[in-house]
Amino acid sequence: MESPFDILEIDAAADDAEIESAYRRRVKEAHPDHGGSAAEFRRVQAAYEELSSGARRSEWIGRHGYETEDVEGTAADETDRYEQESARVEYLNYEVLDDRGWDLEDDDLFEKAADATLATGDYGRFLVEPNETVLEAAENRGFAWPYACRGGACANCAVVVTEGEMSAPVNHILPAEMIDRGVRLSCVGTPITDELNVVYNVKHLPDLDELRLPPRPFEQAQVDD
Ligand code: FES
Repeated sequence: MESPFDILEIDAAADDAEIESAYRRRVKEAHPDHGGSAAEFRRVQAAYEELSSGARRSEWIGRHGYETEDVEGTAADETDRYEQESARVEYLNYEVLDDRGWDLEDDDLFEKAADATLATGDYGRFLVEPNETVLEAAENRGFAWPYACRGGACANCAVVVTEGEMSAPVNHILPAEMIDRGVRLSCVGTPITDELNVVYNVKHLPDLDELRLPPRPFEQAQVDD
């Protein structure tokens, strides 16, 4: 196991402000969209959690000491652990928002969804394995989410991430402002954080509609219903 101080590249005597600043720098470097990887991103997040308060730092040092050489395991072990973990996705169908008068900006959107009696296809949770995109995971669990090209060239498979982080590989069609608003493409995106809340089926949002391709099975099924 690697020291969280080493992962954040700080001294064991670092104070709250130094830890916060190191975390902000390291989490940017580790982000898959900036040359890092999902595993590295999770390592940095986990390290920050370990050191997020004085009490937790003292506890860590009490257990392991300052010298990381004395700690069993290697950085590679730690990376493998994060690589192998599945992520939990909580999903909500955008059509439900329309029906119920909810909004994407609602802070309690997923709490309301959890309290409502919604069909499994509209709301629920599933796990994404390390080798799956979010769309593949949905399909492998029996859900029919919208898609068309499956290669980052349209907005049919778009989702809005309201909590957590999902990768946005470089070769995709979404403008930067959509990325900033949390829009991601489920056909090429993978979870970066252990938990992720996504609203799927958002292809009719303004700005996304014009990036759509002709419908594929999901949308056709909706039309046929
Ligand atoms: S289906 Fe076209 S970008 Fe995902």
